[in-house]
Amino acid sequence: MRSPIVLALSTLVTTTLGSSSENRTLDEIYQAALKEGGVVTLWHGGDEKTQQTGLKKAFEARFPGITLNVTVDLSKYHDSNLDDQIANKNVYVDSIILQTLHDYPRWKKEGALLNYKPSEFANVAPEFKDPEGAYYGYSIFGWSTSWNPAKYNSSLADFSDALLPELKDKLILTYPNDDDAVLYAFDLVIKKLGVKWFDALIAQNPKWVRGSATPGNQLALANTSYIAAFGTGGRSTNVNTSRPTDAPFVTWPQTAAILKDAPHPEGAKLLHNYILSDEFQFATPKWTVRTDAPANFPNIFEEKNTNVTSFLPFMLDRANVERLRFWFETRLGTAQGISPLEDDL
Ligand SMILES: *[C@@H]1O[C@H](CO)[C@@H](O)[C@H](O)[C@H]1NC(C)=O
Ligand SMILES: *[C@@H]1O[C@H](CO)[C@@H](O)[C@H](O)[C@H]1NC(C)=O
Ligand SMILES: *[C@@H]1O[C@H](CO)[C@@H](O)[C@H](O)[C@H]1NC(C)=O
Ligand SMILES: *[C@@H]1O[C@H](CO)[C@@H](O)[C@H](O)[C@H]1NC(C)=O
Ligand SMILES: *[C@@H]1O[C@H](CO)[C@@H](O)[C@H](O)[C@H]1NC(C)=O
Ligand SMILES: *[C@@H]1O[C@H](CO)[C@@H](O)[C@H](O)[C@H]1NC(C)=O
Repeated sequence: MRSPIVLALSTLVTTTLGSSSENRTLDEIYQAALKEGGVVTLWHGGDEKTQQTGLKKAFEARFPGITLNVTVDLSKYHDSNLDDQIANKNVYVDSIILQTLHDYPRWKKEGALLNYKPSEFANVAPEFKDPEGAYYGYSIFGWSTSWNPAKYNSSLADFSDALLPELKDKLILTYPNDDDAVLYAFDLVIKKLGVKWFDALIAQNPKWVRGSATPGNQLALANTSYIAAFGTGGRSTNVNTSRPTDAPFVTWPQTAAILKDAPHPEGAKLLHNYILSDEFQFATPKWTVRTDAPANFPNIFEEKNTNVTSFLPFMLDRANVERLRFWFETRLGTAQGISPLEDDL
């Protein structure tokens, strides 16, 4: 006779069987994706149209004959557009990779996501993945301090550095009320350094812009009139970046899912297996979602002044997010300017 515990376990096994685990090689999936039509449509969160050109080029070079049809837009716009597709039963996106981490548990509950575990799923840190494979982080994103070394010859890092007299009128910052990850950055700093830090920051007369990449792109210009940016995206060329130590900075797992009704499921599986593969994850030492990285890779869980798992609970509390957003909006006004995808920088 089966005990109730055994019955409960068998239910669990049945549920788990609702999720498939990849057991093919990348090349076998590639062949299946070619047969399917050779396209994968990806919506990736971001604020510059070209932000995923590197991924597109690498993927298409690795898998000739496959097109990565990628569209970058703010995660907060991609998600509501995907909601419309789901509601209208007209899903034409295969893969979605966003910063709006709160959407994924909801989409899973709605039955919109494919429960599927790419080959390296077992090596993704448990903190970053749904146990059934409905979604998982693929890359660690985060904010930094940036400055133009031609304009400022010493290093900047701490949020309190933003208050240096020589940075008066020379700061370029992203509106916290336009991007929830930037909102979280300012929330964390104010919790640590107090509202007086923010009041002093306002007194520095910073330029507020839309888009987390805009400050770094501005700072990289030879004729820029700005010196530094805090609590937003960094940039590797022409701009120096560092991590603050006097208050926490924001990091999160940029999270990926395949739509259950994806028109190109094999293409989507190819993409997801590729972005979690050794060749993609371990090309250069950097933070990774994988727990089996080479020894010379930095471990995000050991990083001081950031908690990579705290962004999800922040994003899930929509009432708090809205309250904070309006706290900033009363002080800064609504975000001004055209979409950061359309501006020149
Ligand atoms: C691979 O997975 C498929 C579908 O998930 C399954 O039907 C097949 O038996 C598996 N093959 C092996 C060798 O495990
Ligand atoms: C490429 O993506 C766009 C935007 O998501 C979509 O409208 C278009 O149908 C896609 N093209 C193909 C060939 O799937
Ligand atoms: C840095 O800038 C200051 C002020 O412009 C200047 O006096 C100093 O010589 C510079 N130092 C270096 C190492 O370039
Ligand atoms: C800025 O970056 C350059 C290139 O990586 C480096 O040589 C320089 O020392 C950096 N400056 C500071 C002040 O960190
Ligand atoms: C600065 O340079 C950019 C291109 O490098 C140019 O488009 C812009 O007009 C310049 N701005 C000023 C104020 O000269
Ligand atoms: C990081 O954040 C998570 C979620 O809020 C929390 O459970 C955990 O205790 C935090 N870790 C540290 C080291 O503070």
